[in-house]
Amino acid sequence: MATSPELPPLRWGILSTGRIAGVFARGLAASRAGRLVAVGSRTAESAARFAAEHGLAPAAAHGSYEALLADPAVEAVYIATPHPEHAVWVERAAAAGKHILCEKPAGMNLAEGRRMVAAARGAGVLFMEAFMYRCHPQTARIAALVRDGAIGVPRLVQANYGFRADFNPASRLWNRELGGGGILDVGCYPMSLARLIAGAAAGGAEAFAEPAGLVAQGRLQPETGVDEFATAGLGFAGGLVAQIATGVGLGLENNARVYGTEGWLEVPHPWIITRGGGALTFRLHRRGAAEPETITTEAGNIYGLEADAVAEALRGGGRAVAAMTPEDTLGNLAALDRWRAALGLSYPADAVAAAG
Ligand SMILES: NC(=O)c1ccc[n+]([C@@H]2O[C@H](COP(=O)([O-])OP(=O)(O)OC[C@H]3O[C@@H](n4cnc5c(N)ncnc54)[C@H](OP(=O)(O)O)[C@@H]3O)[C@@H](O)[C@H]2O)c1
Repeated sequence: MATSPELPPLRWGILSTGRIAGVFARGLAASRAGRLVAVGSRTAESAARFAAEHGLAPAAAHGSYEALLADPAVEAVYIATPHPEHAVWVERAAAAGKHILCEKPAGMNLAEGRRMVAAARGAGVLFMEAFMYRCHPQTARIAALVRDGAIGVPRLVQANYGFRADFNPASRLWNRELGGGGILDVGCYPMSLARLIAGAAAGGAEAFAEPAGLVAQGRLQPETGVDEFATAGLGFAGGLVAQIATGVGLGLENNARVYGTEGWLEVPHPWIITRGGGALTFRLHRRGAAEPETITTEAGNIYGLEADAVAEALRGGGRAVAAMTPEDTLGNLAALDRWRAALGLSYPADAVAAAG
C-alpha cells in the first residue's frame, strides 16, 4: 500500500478493554497516524486500568461505552467486544458521528451486517471490518500473483485457521450467547481469503467473488452447540474450488495454499497475527522449476498498518478502506451464514433477524 510520511494524526477511542483491545492499543502506538486518546469500558475500574497501561490520562478513561462515544476528542472508534455486541455499538458509534473499525466478524449474520453498513453510510462515517491481514502487503502480493497468472489458471485454494482452546462454557469461544464457535471466530479468515483469491482469479473489477456452491462438515460441541471445528468446500464460477477449515477445539496448521495449472503458492503465515513487524515470506512454486521462489514482504505492526489504512482512506475523503470494503464484509457474512446453515448452527441473533 502506498503511504506517505505526512499522514495527519487520527484520534482513536477503544471501545472495550479485553485481550485484542490491548493488542490494538499497542498497534496504535506503532502506527504512523494513530493516536489513542480515550478508552471506554463497562466498568470504570477496567477503563482506568487500561488507561494506565496505555499511557492515557485518567480523564480519558470512560466508565461506559456511551461516555466514550460522547467524547469529542474521539474521531474513530475501534470496537472489540464479543461478536454479538458489535452491531449495536457500530450503530451507536455511527449515530455519534465516529468513524468505525469493528472487529471480525463484523456481525453475527448478514442481517446485522446490513444494519451496520446502512448506519455508517447514513451517518457518512467510514466503516471497516478489522481483517488486519488484508492490510499487509503480503496479502496484496498474493492476490496480484494470482491475478497476473503466475500460477496459471487457479484451481484450488486450501486455507485453515483453527486452534484448540480448552472447553469452558462461560468463555466467548464456547458460549452460544457470546457467539462462540470456530466459524465466526476464525473461520471468517479462510472464507475471506478464498473469496479474495476467487476475485483475483476472475480478473474483473471486483476484489472478491462469492461461492456458488457450499458443502460443509464439522462437529458441534454437545453442551453449548457451537462448532468445535468445521470444514467447507466452496465452488466458484469459473471452476475454482476452495477447501477451508476452522476450529476453536482443534489445532490446525494455520496456512494457505493456492494451486493453479502452472504452479502453486505456499503461504505459511496468511493471517499474520503473531508478527510485530519485519519480514514475512511465502513461496511461489512454478511448474517445472527446480526450486521455489521465496517472496518476502516487509511491514510494521499489523494492527498499526490497519489503523493507518483507515487514516489513509479518511485523508483521501474515503468512507471505506479498499483492502476491506463494506461490500466485502457483507459477502463474507452471507457466506458464513451459509456455512453455519449447512451445519445446523444458529445463534439468538439469527432468530432476531428472522423475526425482523
Ligand atoms: N483481529 C484479531 O486479531 C482478533 C484477535 C482476537 C479477537 N478478535 C475479535 O475481537 C473481539 C473481542 O475478542 P477478545 O478476544 O478481545 O475478547 P475478550 O478478551 O473476551 O474481550 C472482550 C471485551 O468486550 C467487552 N464486553 C462487552 N460485552 C461483553 C460481554 N457480554 N461479555 C464479555 N465481555 C464483554 C469487555 O470489555 P469491558 O469489560 O471493558 O467492557 C471484554 O473485555 C471478538 O469479536 C473477536 O473475534 C480479533
